[in-house]
Amino acid sequence: MRMLDIILKKRNGEELTKEEIDFWVKGYVAGHIPDYQVSALLMAIFFQGMTGRETADLTMAMAYSGDVVDLSPIPGVKVDKHSTGGVGDTTTLVVAPLVVACGVPVAKMSGRGLGHTGGTIDKLESVPGFNPFQSNQDFIRIVKEIGIAIVGQTGNLVPADKLIYALRDVTGTVEHKSLIASSIMSKKIAAGADAIVLDVKTGSGAFMESVEDAFSLAQEMVNVGNRVGRKTAALVTDMSQPLGMAVGNALEVREAIEILKGDRTGALMDVSLVLGAYMLFMAGRCSGIEQGEDMIREALYSGRGADKLKEMIQAQGGDQRVVDDPSLLPLADNVIVIKAEQDGYIYSIDARRVGHAAHLLGAGRNTKDDAIDHRVGIVLHKRVGETVRKGDVLADFYVTRENLLERAVDTFKRAFVIKQERPKPKPLVYGVVT
Ligand code: URA
Ligand code: CA
Repeated sequence: MRMLDIILKKRNGEELTKEEIDFWVKGYVAGHIPDYQVSALLMAIFFQGMTGRETADLTMAMAYSGDVVDLSPIPGVKVDKHSTGGVGDTTTLVVAPLVVACGVPVAKMSGRGLGHTGGTIDKLESVPGFNPFQSNQDFIRIVKEIGIAIVGQTGNLVPADKLIYALRDVTGTVEHKSLIASSIMSKKIAAGADAIVLDVKTGSGAFMESVEDAFSLAQEMVNVGNRVGRKTAALVTDMSQPLGMAVGNALEVREAIEILKGDRTGALMDVSLVLGAYMLFMAGRCSGIEQGEDMIREALYSGRGADKLKEMIQAQGGDQRVVDDPSLLPLADNVIVIKAEQDGYIYSIDARRVGHAAHLLGAGRNTKDDAIDHRVGIVLHKRVGETVRKGDVLADFYVTRENLLERAVDTFKRAFVIKQERPKPKPLVYGVVT
């Protein structure tokens, strides 16, 4: 087999066989096929597309390109969740303890922040002592003992995605639904999931800004899941404004704790309830979504979700007292208040810009090796559709350094559009693909 023939075949719009797909993925990971040929193939795929069968074969070739996690020692259906990435998107920290409190184990591998979006591992590391890097044995043991662990990726998981993603990033081939679907699904499969609930974001803070594109990506991922024997459901949810009110690592942990303790409601809680209900449904714990939502709500109001979060923090070496006393989380002492400069309705809050502003305060990284500052970030006081008067507080900035503060404030102010006109309300959950 020759890589050139595979490129030509795809360039001419033909369908690749499983053997051809295995050949190029294996050859690329082994270093036998150079970047320039894979670049050419990715561009051919970008223009010619892939069939559902090709996408599923690519997903499996990638999933098994390195180590795979074996969760079979943990009894029950292991359901994973995945968000395509957002701002103030702390659903995992809310929903995972609730699902576990309803009897479904969660053995989750999470990532760090990417671009303007946050990552669960960064957020959890703001809890003093918390260790997201557990050995495989400890990971499994903790889930068997208490039902839940959230860890960072260790070992050589899906090396094909690391290589291909880096190449896509610099060859203009990121925004293709089959390539995104195979990238995301390969990682979920390698992480050992039996069933997968996806939260596909749409709006200014999302990869797929339009609702149509988000549904199309959702459908593609569900098709892949079904073809490779993993029950998959995908919700399409709003990311036109930050989901929670907090953007920044310790601040987002604090917000998740407040929700789990019943001290706070809102969009983050509402999306978490729906995601949790789907996770219970996929695990066979409830007969319908409404029943699942009731179970999740009961776990929340009884405090069993908050207790689970405490157990997990303790099992992973962290200071579980933060759940009872979130002031133990590291937060910047310097809080700067941002005020509205005119009266009107909050017409829109560009999630990407808010994420970028938090990034400038130090909540994100510019390069993979940058240190982030867990103490900084933004707490919004307003959501789209609310009225404001000039001088009302729009947000608090938690600040530890002043050098980029002016740019952060400027970026943030451009994220907030205030108009005399009331905005049309947007749904929080646009729909679900199963
Ligand atoms: N997230 C991923 O993991 N892969 C993509 O291709 C896009 C978003
Ligand atoms: Ca403190």
